[in-house]
Amino acid sequence: MSDRKPVIISEEQLEEQRQYIQQIRLMPDAPKSYHVVTYGCQMNAHDSEILAGMLRDMGMEEAADRESADFVLFNTCCVRDNAERRALGNVTWLKEVRKKNPRLMIGVCGCMIQQPGMAEKILKQYRFVDLAFGTANLYRLPELMLKALESEHAVVEVEEQNTIAEGLPVQRLRHDAAYITIMYGCDNYCTYCIVPYVRGRERSREMSAIVAEAEALRDSGVKEIMLLGQNVNSYGRGLSEPCSFAELLQMVEKIDGIERIRFMTSHPKDLSDDLIEAMKHSEKICRHLHLPLQSGSDRILSAMNRHYTSETYLELARKLRREMPDLSLTTDIIVGFPGETEEDFQQTLDVVRKVRYDSAFTFIYSKRSGTAAARMEDQVPDEVVHDRFDRLLKEVQKIGREETSRFEGQTLPVLVERVNREDDSLMTGRTSQNTVVHFPGDCSLIGQIVDVRLDSCKGFYYIGTMTGGNHAAG
Ligand code: SAH
Ligand code: SF4
Ligand code: F3S
Repeated sequence: MSDRKPVIISEEQLEEQRQYIQQIRLMPDAPKSYHVVTYGCQMNAHDSEILAGMLRDMGMEEAADRESADFVLFNTCCVRDNAERRALGNVTWLKEVRKKNPRLMIGVCGCMIQQPGMAEKILKQYRFVDLAFGTANLYRLPELMLKALESEHAVVEVEEQNTIAEGLPVQRLRHDAAYITIMYGCDNYCTYCIVPYVRGRERSREMSAIVAEAEALRDSGVKEIMLLGQNVNSYGRGLSEPCSFAELLQMVEKIDGIERIRFMTSHPKDLSDDLIEAMKHSEKICRHLHLPLQSGSDRILSAMNRHYTSETYLELARKLRREMPDLSLTTDIIVGFPGETEEDFQQTLDVVRKVRYDSAFTFIYSKRSGTAAARMEDQVPDEVVHDRFDRLLKEVQKIGREETSRFEGQTLPVLVERVNREDDSLMTGRTSQNTVVHFPGDCSLIGQIVDVRLDSCKGFYYIGTMTGGNHAAG
């Protein structure tokens, strides 16, 4: 296990990487275009924006798809077996593309590579991969890229460092809303979860760095920011000037021009009354909370190392609803954790019926090697798990539809994100509760917060009508 102390990447180290970027810019045979393929969570999506920022600075253009790029980089996830299989399948498929474009360079990075033994596997079984690196050395992409360009052999680097690198270039996907990672890693060791092993120890960025990033985003026209961490409620532990997540939110709230604040993910065990108060009195913090339940059985929650019971979770959900009646609550649930019985599963359904989530991500338990749960006996047979999964999905969808429809007829502020993908006379945006609304409008509205009446609920989204112009706060 690696040291707990975060390793702050120095200005000299960052400058060294900037010099590699300049060297690559001047190389005549360096790739001219890139395409980053991302799997996994928002934090990975934001890492991809940083990877793209470095590639752009190396002089590459973003290619429309992976077939037309000179360099394809897969930023992988390994939280469940299917995420990993999908990534490896797509990497293999690219081997065929290279037959047509011999210049094509292939890179693989992210959580999957950080697993023990994976780098060796890539070297042996995926010989067509030119470059592979883990999550801890993302900031070293320029150096590794240069090595790969100068070498006949694959360049593979995996370090076990708990790094924090500030000030890396970012090529953002959206102009109106942006991700800010506030902390890295995770120390919770839920027994099913691989994240602590592939993302390192929990470490928080300095509040001043986060606020400066939010201000710069505001200056570039961003209205909504999403603060990211595996467990944002424990933000600030170990900082030179300790600060809580609620305090961080209050600082970000003060930034004029930032109109909406979202965050992900909250661990129920660490959700404080201060946070509820900060949310309740805020004009900017969105009325949406993602609060992973994982299971409704106390026996399973304890085996998962979650540190709460169904009753304390329910009490928290009741308090949240009482303090903020317009809050939307969403969750993650795992079915088929080792030893889960029908009775345990019924307890999960019971919590689902009591909380009435606006939506829920449901997952089939996936055994991850190296985790404590992988060593547990009583793995539940596939057909039993699938049957439970189907029943749970039906229930969460039924409740989700009913809950989503509770806004019908209301007029709510909506941040307009984009033109509707199927009908270009419609615009698509989200309410503070994260509910999707499509309504007639034109693309000049993108990036604005406008009032939209939610006319008819179509299951998980709405068709609406714009009733008011630009809004100050969402
Ligand atoms: N840090 C966040 C979530 C990280 S992973 C949190 O604690 O909520 C996102 C979700 O993937 C988890 O909430 C969990 O529901 C699911 N997940 C994680 N490991 C899994 C596994 N081995 N099998 C199935 N689902 C898993
Ligand atoms: Fe995984 Fe638990 Fe950490 Fe979330 S809190 S990333 S589920 S170990
Ligand atoms: Fe996956 Fe890594 Fe995120 S394992 S869920 S991409 S932290």
